[in-house]
Amino acid sequence: MTLQQSATVAEARGVPASGALDGFYNDKVVRQFAVATVVWGIVGMAVGAFIAAQLYWPTLGEGIPWLSYGRLRPLHTNAVIFAFGGSALFATSLHVVQRTCHVRLISDKLASFVFWGWQAVIVAAAITLPLGITQSKEYAELEWPIDILITIVWLAYAWLFFGTIAKRRVKHIYVANWFYGAYIITIALLHVVNNLALPVDMGKSYQVYTGAVDAMVQWWYGHNAVGFFLTAGFLGMMYYFVPKQAGRPVYSYRLSIVHFWALIAVYMWAGPHHLQYTALPDWAQSVGMVFSLILLAPSWGGAINGILTLSGVWHKLRTDPILKFLIVSLSFYMIATFEGPMMSIKTVNSLSHYTDWTVGHVHAGALGWVAMISIGSIYALVPRLVGQSAMYSTRWIDLHFWIHTLGVVLYIVSMWIAGVMQGLMWRATNDDGTLTYSFVEALNVTYPYYLVRLGGGLLVLTGMALMAVNMWKTFAMARTVDQPVLPPEPSQARA
Ligand code: HEM
Ligand code: HEM
Repeated sequence: MTLQQSATVAEARGVPASGALDGFYNDKVVRQFAVATVVWGIVGMAVGAFIAAQLYWPTLGEGIPWLSYGRLRPLHTNAVIFAFGGSALFATSLHVVQRTCHVRLISDKLASFVFWGWQAVIVAAAITLPLGITQSKEYAELEWPIDILITIVWLAYAWLFFGTIAKRRVKHIYVANWFYGAYIITIALLHVVNNLALPVDMGKSYQVYTGAVDAMVQWWYGHNAVGFFLTAGFLGMMYYFVPKQAGRPVYSYRLSIVHFWALIAVYMWAGPHHLQYTALPDWAQSVGMVFSLILLAPSWGGAINGILTLSGVWHKLRTDPILKFLIVSLSFYMIATFEGPMMSIKTVNSLSHYTDWTVGHVHAGALGWVAMISIGSIYALVPRLVGQSAMYSTRWIDLHFWIHTLGVVLYIVSMWIAGVMQGLMWRATNDDGTLTYSFVEALNVTYPYYLVRLGGGLLVLTGMALMAVNMWKTFAMARTVDQPVLPPEPSQARA
């Protein structure tokens, strides 16, 4: 559709289009973040594959400080969580808020600032982490000047998102926006509280917290980063893209509201499960365990709500690979949120902690849930942003689905086996109380599993490369213009 045609359609629907940008959605920023998702996905996962290779060939990169495992591991986690996952969240939230509120974003300049500001954060992270500049707090490694930039960009994002909600033309705020809104508010809070530090120079600061309090604040942050960055925002994606792709309303709107408030009420208390058997008071560890067990219910309730949205149209799973991505992501979400509560039980944690079981759990969530729901949503989103009805090749999406799923299964199953084996070998004792196995013996039997994990990672990476080509080809055939804002149904319109 040309700009002229879009304007005519919009005008015919009673939207003030002529000359006024307000008659069109701001799809530019969504397109930018969608491209960034795929680009940073490839970069972050390539670094993941490299460090997986280093665990198998420990001399890889030897003698080059910026290629050392200790520096690249945080680069991987930051790139996949904040650059890949973050871009997917920005792209989808800014799309969903416009479509469900029937208005354009409140400001194009602010949208552009959020995009370029976030890219600046990512580039700063990609430079400083390999140089070894770090706060040494997991998932919060970046030093204070970058933390301040994150805060500024995040506040701009919050202003953009909530400002658009305030401007909405419908009475109702769709549930996906509740999840996105909760993630935006909570991440702001977590980021500021966990990063309070006294700067020494541009690249060094000291945390204001000490000892067990520092550990508690860090894992209150760490766990809720999982709960709100890696979960709540992606649930927002689920509540919009699953019904949209299935062509059905969400299975139970009432359940979605219960799901929302239950997650909000429970997640905040579960952080101490990362600190079982540490200097943290025993009662706090037990509180973490109990709330983690409770968390199983809302997590599964929400996932089932997403899956049952397909009631009556299950046959679409046979032909629509995008739906396959979305629904299988929910199955992995259920696996991770069953496993997590089990691992938080102290006796189970005494076996799983420090082992590769944790890494398997992480990637069931990260590669199975987060990556698959993002990939599915971006495939659903991109054609709409460029005036097409589908991606360049649906067959490639199907191929991507199978490569990715196989890769994830190889990754997580190998890590589960390796992890349980490590835990059992480390605790095995002889009759006289001495250890049955040395550490090196346990390490030796882990090696084959590291190779399998690397294979799985490379499959996932190949799938991402295929996605990039598919996206490139889709953009190449684009008749791209921003879409006209659709007026709400009269019964839903705001007075
Ligand atoms: C090609 C895909 C990927 C590969 C090969 C890969 C590989 C790895 C490796 C080797 C580690 C270090 C494990 C260790 O220290 O023992 C790791 C850690 C981690 N990765 Fe990935 N990864 C991939 C994708 C992802 C994605 C998409 C995410 C998130 C969205 C993610 C999140 C994490 C996190 C949070 C950790 C830290 C885990 C912990 O501290 O227990 N990874 N990854
Ligand atoms: C009901 C939900 C969940 C619960 C109760 C839970 C619980 C746990 C537990 C007990 C650990 C091990 C802590 C340790 O021994 O150090 C853990 C680690 C982890 N989980 Fe989960 N989990 C849940 C869901 C998820 C999901 C959906 C994801 C990802 C999207 C995720 C990402 C992680 C990460 C990144 C870590 C590693 C943290 C680290 O040590 O660096 N979790 N989780």
